[in-house]
Amino acid sequence: MNSSNFSLTPESLPKHVAIIMDGNGRWAKKRALNRIRGHREGTESVRDIVQVSREVGVKVLTLYAFSTENWKRPSMEVAALMKLLKNFLKSELSEMMENSICLNAIGDIKKLPYDVLDVLSEVMDATRQNQGMILNLALSYGSRHELVRAARRIANQVKEGQLEPDEITEELLSSNLYTHNMPDPDVLIRTSGEMRVSNFLLWQIAYSEIFVTKTLWPDFRREEFIQILSDYQKRERRFGLTGA
Ligand code: FPP
Repeated sequence: MNSSNFSLTPESLPKHVAIIMDGNGRWAKKRALNRIRGHREGTESVRDIVQVSREVGVKVLTLYAFSTENWKRPSMEVAALMKLLKNFLKSELSEMMENSICLNAIGDIKKLPYDVLDVLSEVMDATRQNQGMILNLALSYGSRHELVRAARRIANQVKEGQLEPDEITEELLSSNLYTHNMPDPDVLIRTSGEMRVSNFLLWQIAYSEIFVTKTLWPDFRREEFIQILSDYQKRERRFGLTGA
């Protein structure tokens, strides 16, 4: 399918879309269902949004799937999320290969259970050469942690005498983040109406266009995503400069 099907202008598509997927619990509560059912339905939205992102030609899609804070949720919920993630990775591998999607993870992934980490590594290895789109999963991710990690890496280079403090630039800091090989997000979407960035890509979203929708993540599907991309194309991005 071509992006012209959606009346999007291919030249001004966002290269990188980042999403804070929120509202699975509320979706379930509204239906008197267990929270896990909300996460399960949310996985269907993940499939849909990955597919449509690839179809329209987004180059990087970053999904906030599990934050450093999420470890504090009840252990049953954490276990269910890990299982959903593992099943998703296993079931989507062939689809990723077919659509040339490269799976990447950002975050403190060594904290993930061994079985999940195994599958994650397998899928990352298998899809490494795919050039169509990067599906970037933020797992055990926290932006402050990422920035502290970058500061430590740079401090070590200074300590080893490989770097002068004056050589520390924005580019150098960016190159020490998990997202070092990706453009910054052009678009940040948050579902469920909350007006927060929740420790997500704090450095990288400096100039991102932000879209907050009241739609709960399990109800967020391709039509609304395309509408947001279309609204993005109507916005004037200034990067701190004055308007035309
Ligand atoms: C926020 O909803 C969502 C999460 C913490 C996890 C997102 C996970 C998925 C969409 C499913 C698994 C992921 C993949 C990549 C297969 P919430 O529980 O905070 O909702 P609430 O604020 O309404 O309680």
